[in-house]
Amino acid sequence: MSPVKPQPANRIILLGAPGAGKGTVAKALVDLFGLSHLSTGDMLRAAVAAGTPLGVQAKSFMDAGALVPDELMVGLIADRVQQPDCKSPSGVVRFLLDGFPRTLPQADALDAGQLGPDLVVYLAVDDAIIVDRLCGRRTCPGCGSPFHIHFAPPKVDGICDRCGTALVHRSDDQEAAIRKRLEAFHRQTGPLVGRYAACLVTIDGAQAPADVLAQVVRTLRARGAIVENAGQTANVVS
Ligand code: AP5
Repeated sequence: MSPVKPQPANRIILLGAPGAGKGTVAKALVDLFGLSHLSTGDMLRAAVAAGTPLGVQAKSFMDAGALVPDELMVGLIADRVQQPDCKSPSGVVRFLLDGFPRTLPQADALDAGQLGPDLVVYLAVDDAIIVDRLCGRRTCPGCGSPFHIHFAPPKVDGICDRCGTALVHRSDDQEAAIRKRLEAFHRQTGPLVGRYAACLVTIDGAQAPADVLAQVVRTLRARGAIVENAGQTANVVS
């Protein structure tokens, strides 16, 4: 009798402290495999830029390095996962969540909607490294791509490699806000590591970006979470 094959992972969460590299990994996975990347940080920044009611409510929390209230975040994700890009041809909900859930009530909301993760990838990075990364981060307000003045500089200083938009230093990437975000992460998001222990894979996020990505790809591939696109995986990992 052949062994029972595990179900492929359709609902994946990228978990990690601010600056752990979630956005960097997620953007690469989208390019390579076309996963549906749902970044609550990107959604909130778009709402702030557009001046929507959500953006107006969220801005002061974000600038202070605090989490936006759960009820706003749960509503945002509940709407987003209904979009067609989060459904497979057979109607299965599929997503790569980046920045959600960040609290136990947010995790409860996913479970209540039968949207709990099949796989959680936890990028572990020490706080001291995080502060260096975020102080030097530059972000594209056009496509959301992250860069770093030392670790991942753009080809042309201050300009996004992908879409040519001028890069910005995020308002919450100042040292005081970074320290508050780290405190919020340890207090409010840290308990999710235990909550998801049964489906969680920890990856050392302090490695070089290419090595982190290669390890994430290996993990996703082992769980049947990625559909190979001929010719596009050669640079990642064999
Ligand atoms: P969000 O945008 O989600 O911010 P975050 O979690 O703080 O994460 P970051 O985007 O700062 O970091 P990242 O892990 O994506 O790292 P990145 O790849 O950019 O949220 C912003 C705010 O919105 C929150 O503070 C909160 O107020 C609110 N919010 C969002 N979701 C919420 C929720 N669910 N509930 C309540 N509030 C919510 O990398 C960082 C830097 O390091 C870059 O410069 C990059 O180039 C560099 N880098 C990446 N990987 C490496 C590496 N391996 N080696 C060296 N450098 C690297």
